[in-house]
Amino acid sequence: MDAVDLKTITQANRAAWDASAQAHAQGDDWAKLLTGFAEGGFSTFDDCISKTLQTIDLAGKTSVQIGCNNGRELLSLAQFGAIPALGIDQSAGFLAQACQLAKVANSDCTFLCADIYDLPETTPRNHDFALITIGVLNWMPDLAQFFRIVAVLLAPHGRLLIYETHPVLDMYDPDAPNPYLPERSYFQTAP
Ligand SMILES: C[S@@+](CC[C@H](N)C(=O)[O-])C[C@H]1O[C@@H](n2cnc3c(N)ncnc32)[C@H](O)[C@@H]1O
Repeated sequence: MDAVDLKTITQANRAAWDASAQAHAQGDDWAKLLTGFAEGGFSTFDDCISKTLQTIDLAGKTSVQIGCNNGRELLSLAQFGAIPALGIDQSAGFLAQACQLAKVANSDCTFLCADIYDLPETTPRNHDFALITIGVLNWMPDLAQFFRIVAVLLAPHGRLLIYETHPVLDMYDPDAPNPYLPERSYFQTAP
């Protein structure tokens, strides 16, 4: 893929995420994040990733999350002994929320608003642990280049955890009367 295509794709994607940011900073879910992180001992991870995180020695390890969105997962890593150090995302709208959550969590982590394909030279590297979670890889127009950059963010012997779902799951609604019947097309094109 040439550089012009890559930029066009990532910029369109950033505009879409920024446009949706405000809708996420209200309602019960947002209130639960604010309360949970303010009270401490809080994690938004489900059982599956929590069990995996418990198998990794994260005590005192610095962590970076690529595509951190509102920072809820980066901050949740503290419950597993890791030091949430850096969240990278290109949506300023969501990173404003991440800063808000970090403040109530009393976390020193920092957030970098940047396109992962175009990181500033000064981006902190040498992290012990990197996290990529649901809904990030599918936006990446060049996966090989993406992982070369992730490797640069990690210290030698650093570890990367990827937690993803298959997009076939987007066809199903777990709250539908029959959750086993597809509710949506696999090929839908609307946002
Ligand atoms: C689905 S969200 C991740 C949500 C996360 N799994 C969670 O539950 O909090 C995907 C994120 O990737 C970010 N993203 C997409 N393309 C990016 C790029 N090229 N550079 C940096 N961030 C990007 C988006 O802005 C968005 O916040």
